[in-house]
Amino acid sequence: MYEKLDGRKRTSYCGEFNETQLNTNVTAMGWVGKRRDFGGLVFVDLRDRTGIVQVVFNESTFKGDYSKVDLLRNEFVICVQGKLVIRDEDTYNPKLPTGTVEIRVDDMQVLASSNPVPFLVDEDTKVSDNTRLKYRYLDLRRLTMQNILKLRSKVCKITRDYLDELGFLEIETPALGKSTPEGARDYLVPSRTFPNKFFALPQSPQIYKQLLMISGVDKYYQIAKCFRDEDLRADRQPEFTQIDMELSFVDQEEQVMSIVEILIKKIFKQTINVDLDEKFLRMTWREAMDRFGSDKPDMRFGLELKNISHVAQNCLLEPFKKAVANGGSVRVLNAKGRLNELSRTDLEKLVNFVKSCGAPGMSYITYGEDGPKGPLIKFFTQEQLDEIMKICDGDKNDIIFFIADEDDNLVCSSLGKLRLHLAEMFNLIDENDYKVLWVTDFPQFEYSKEEKRFVAMHHPFTCPKDEDVQYLFTDPARVRAKAYDIVVNGYELGGGSIRINDQDLQENMFKALKFSEEQIQELFGFFVNAFKYGAPPHGGLAIGLDRLIMLLVKTTDIKDVIAFPKIQTAMDLLTGAPDYVADKQLEDVYIKLVEPDLKDE
Ligand code: AMO
Repeated sequence: MYEKLDGRKRTSYCGEFNETQLNTNVTAMGWVGKRRDFGGLVFVDLRDRTGIVQVVFNESTFKGDYSKVDLLRNEFVICVQGKLVIRDEDTYNPKLPTGTVEIRVDDMQVLASSNPVPFLVDEDTKVSDNTRLKYRYLDLRRLTMQNILKLRSKVCKITRDYLDELGFLEIETPALGKSTPEGARDYLVPSRTFPNKFFALPQSPQIYKQLLMISGVDKYYQIAKCFRDEDLRADRQPEFTQIDMELSFVDQEEQVMSIVEILIKKIFKQTINVDLDEKFLRMTWREAMDRFGSDKPDMRFGLELKNISHVAQNCLLEPFKKAVANGGSVRVLNAKGRLNELSRTDLEKLVNFVKSCGAPGMSYITYGEDGPKGPLIKFFTQEQLDEIMKICDGDKNDIIFFIADEDDNLVCSSLGKLRLHLAEMFNLIDENDYKVLWVTDFPQFEYSKEEKRFVAMHHPFTCPKDEDVQYLFTDPARVRAKAYDIVVNGYELGGGSIRINDQDLQENMFKALKFSEEQIQELFGFFVNAFKYGAPPHGGLAIGLDRLIMLLVKTTDIKDVIAFPKIQTAMDLLTGAPDYVADKQLEDVYIKLVEPDLKDE
């Protein structure tokens, strides 16, 4: 019963019919949603990507073959012609923008039928994630999903318009490239023309965008696909998109940050009408770790951490003293005024929680009616206790959590996670709020316990702060980078840096990272070589487009903002990828399969 469209054109999208078209003949097309059949009179919600319009089939006035109307089912695709009329006032639907009008249908063509659907395409039906993803094309028909796709497209347009205005060129870089160590695991593509050799899909266009600066492009951007084979989280996909940019003749962080700041403000204003702060807050990495225990602090609430190492180093508790003496710290977090809301079981759960974050343990002092209490008290003098209470503003009905360890970053990050956990428990976050900040002055290196060496925190092409270059070999932990992250509501939205353009410094950087001359040549030879031919000073940044959309639509699941996302195991439920391939395809690329040894998994 498929009928031809025969070149008919729609008068409006379904969601855009309005009273200016009253009493005119209109044509509408879309999918059949909710249907109410009163025998001889059928009401159908006709839906497209803009919304819904009610269409009415009346057997006595319908000019075509009415038996087709009886056969209509959910998700049939139809085209209707008829008159747009005002509804009876008592049947207005205030929930729909088209709620005062309806189309009295004269004729209809059924353009496609549909099998019974696995779930109703509406906003209210609860459907499991896996079913939604398996039938993503149905899930995407929902208006919420259509609106997300529209918003995503608008963000790209705002970005393109703004960067174009500033003279940035949009340039594509290869998806098939060379595997270079960039942090995550690469996705590999075997070569047919070079047996046993592989391409790697880009983790980001980092190397290419720097080469474009050496090529004289001056200002580059790209809405770029990136691929990282890493463990997935709610804000991470193996395949994601960056708004990636780079510009030449800059050597100060501020020169890149100010451009990005205007872009982000434009996007928030033009999509969700939110005015962000005129100038985003700036905070050094050190301050962010000290106060919030995170390099991506959520600033929508307080609960700041305090360092009490200088007091704890003189107390009588050995583990506290040892932690400080060995370069670590003792830090506290005061859950102000919450003592009465936390039962003993809650407290046990909190201790287990921080342990699951890697902390060796956690103690606490409760501040009841008769002052501070708890097993810790006896290890401090009264003066020390008074000092601690002063530092953390301790008062009645407070509970103060203590974590000590020789690894200061671990102390900060576990208390930071506790901070977020408590904020959730006590509902401290205003979901309508946006708090944006720049985190700057990241450490150049972080110590890898596994590899027993310093590794680049950002990447090896990040320029150290001029005043810290002197410590490259003598005290690497002290070297700060000209690197910056933009953070929104506790999400790392983007990151970038000023790059090294001085060959000697780049070589020293590789040496500090303990790359041998051979490794440098093998891994980055082509890149290091390019710098020998006049590299301008340059810097850039990449914004996670998916995370940006997550923030704009206020979802915590990255899958919601990607048309065809992957699940936790990096599988695409719609197509079933990854999948086996034909033997011949493997032969072509010289690959033999081995049975996986599943014993260790
Ligand atoms: P970085 O690795 O910090 O920097 O990535 C930049 C931004 O990309 C987003 N992002 C992700 N989004 C979803 N899923 C993922 N798996 C994922 N990984 C990263 C984040 C992050 O802030 N080349 C450098 C940028 C530069 O120095 O210019 C880079 O890729 O929002």
